[in-house]
Amino acid sequence: MKLFVDTALIEEITEVNRWGILDGVTTNPTHVSKTGKSAQKVYEEILRTVKGPVSLETIAEDAEGIVREARELAAKADNVVVKVPITCDGLTAVKQLNSEGIKTNVTVVFSPLQALLAAKCGATYVSPFIGRLDAIGHTGMEIVQQIKAIYDNYDYSTEIIVASIRHPLHVLEAALIGADICTMGFATMKQLYDHPLTDLGIERFLNDWKKVPKE
Ligand code: G3P
Repeated sequence: MKLFVDTALIEEITEVNRWGILDGVTTNPTHVSKTGKSAQKVYEEILRTVKGPVSLETIAEDAEGIVREARELAAKADNVVVKVPITCDGLTAVKQLNSEGIKTNVTVVFSPLQALLAAKCGATYVSPFIGRLDAIGHTGMEIVQQIKAIYDNYDYSTEIIVASIRHPLHVLEAALIGADICTMGFATMKQLYDHPLTDLGIERFLNDWKKVPKE
């Protein structure tokens, strides 16, 4: 399973990249707003740092405007993926962008049928938001299971990015379902490494090593 970091903060992206596990980055307008920098500057920094797919979101709401914006974003680097919210105009734009060879990530997805439409329009990726569904009393991961079944039934090549991840259990469940990608915040990514028994085990080894005669 590929691991993406969901942030626009270059410090976080650089650190995860250093760990050697970073497959890609997803950003959104909220993440960019938290950097305090212009989108132009933020995107340049990220694209200089990351080799894998980098999702940059469109703001226009009409199909023509989305396509125009997407072309500008895609021209920045070969690894740009244009993030498009799931609306009628959004999917009209995705179909056009697919015909031009521009990669897309259909976002703000909350139902398997929205994901079906995204795949029909040739989306490269689809991003179901799991944590936000959990937060309103649904089991978000159920839609990942359903999207995976639909895509397998019809051999759609659209890759599933499990997004709005809140904790490592979401990552585990996504991996068991066979989702292609999980995108998560820096803190959750770091948590994937952690286990109290690992800490205890290392501590014991280091203490025992001190007892080994030096000569
Ligand atoms: O980037 C899209 C998605 O991951 C947003 O997640 O944490 O705002 O629910 P969140």
